Amino acid sequence: MSLIEVENLGVQFQTPDGDVTAVNGISFTLERGQTLGIVGESGSGKSQTVLAMMGLLATNGRASGQARFNGQDLLSLQPKILNTIRGNRVAMIFQDPMTSLNPYLTVERQMTEVLEFHKGMTRQQARLRAVQALDAVKIPEAAKRVMQYPHEFSGGMRQRVMIAMALLCEPDVLIADEPTTALDVTVQAQIIALMRDLQRDHGTAIVLITHDLGVVAGLCDEVIVLYGGRIMEHASADAIFYHPTHPYTVGLLGAIPRLEQGEQALVTIPGAPPNMARLPPGCPFSERCTLVEPRCISEPPALVAVPDRSDGLRACHKSVAEVMRHAQGGSA
Ligand SMILES: Nc1ncnc2c1ncn2[C@@H]1O[C@H](COP(=O)(O)OP(=O)(O)O)[C@@H](O)[C@H]1O
Ligand code: SF4
Ligand SMILES: [Mg+2]
Repeated sequence: MSLIEVENLGVQFQTPDGDVTAVNGISFTLERGQTLGIVGESGSGKSQTVLAMMGLLATNGRASGQARFNGQDLLSLQPKILNTIRGNRVAMIFQDPMTSLNPYLTVERQMTEVLEFHKGMTRQQARLRAVQALDAVKIPEAAKRVMQYPHEFSGGMRQRVMIAMALLCEPDVLIADEPTTALDVTVQAQIIALMRDLQRDHGTAIVLITHDLGVVAGLCDEVIVLYGGRIMEHASADAIFYHPTHPYTVGLLGAIPRLEQGEQALVTIPGAPPNMARLPPGCPFSERCTLVEPRCISEPPALVAVPDRSDGLRACHKSVAEVMRHAQGGSA
């Protein structure tokens, strides 16, 4: 049994214009100590995938399929039991730390509350543990700073506070939704290094969500590439970076900014991410794919094993050889 087993996960929203399928048939597993990247442009369904797993969808949203943690399906758990898992065994951090930090409480009070609730610690024990947690994420003068309010920390430091808070109960899984997107490149690198250390020291499994393939490079074992709420490609991080097999992955790789070459090197995929309310009936990427052929428009490609590889799944009607030829020819 894997630590996390997501099977055929779907998310549908009811809107005045009809139902919107934001996540469509996502499956993956996550082992202890492993890091999975979920990558895709804005609106591709990354956040809704993990929010569905955590029972945190907006009220007009409904999840289908299964998302098992230690064999228990999170989607069908009583809210009360889910609460004992969320923030304890499975923790989540967000792009904006203020979505998980309370501006009106000192960091100490927020941390001790979590420890009193989930771990039954006394205030005294919880205080000590809170300072240790800030120390672990390398916040200088932790014993003093723990008394401060979130707004007294800089952006990068606040992100660290949020990570410390998420890791307080030593969760089995950390879900990080664009944790570094709002930070400058140097702080971003520090936070990623910090997550890597924490994983090494505690064996925490991580799901890292980002629109930036560059961020997953240093941290992830496996990567799922999402588009239009579906998995386009799922493979080891090495395979995604060095042997991508899907036109969308090839396009995303072209969109990684290369610092040393300056901003001009940023090649974006032409066109806009799809409107989820009006997805094409076939391949979701068909409106932007330069390899599109008639059946791409009418028939969604199935997610199948990449031929002649020990791992890797792809959803594309074209053969790997055709995609590779095209990729080497320049654009995707
Ligand atoms: N409350 C909602 N009602 C209707 N549609 C929604 C709602 N929340 C999200 N969506 C749809 O879900 C899609 C995927 O959203 P999301 O998972 O947040 O994208 P991202 O990959 O940027 O994290 C959005 O493009 C939007 O169409
Ligand atoms: S199925 Fe067709 S449209 Fe979709 S990525 Fe492959 S070639 Fe492009
Ligand atoms: Mg998101």
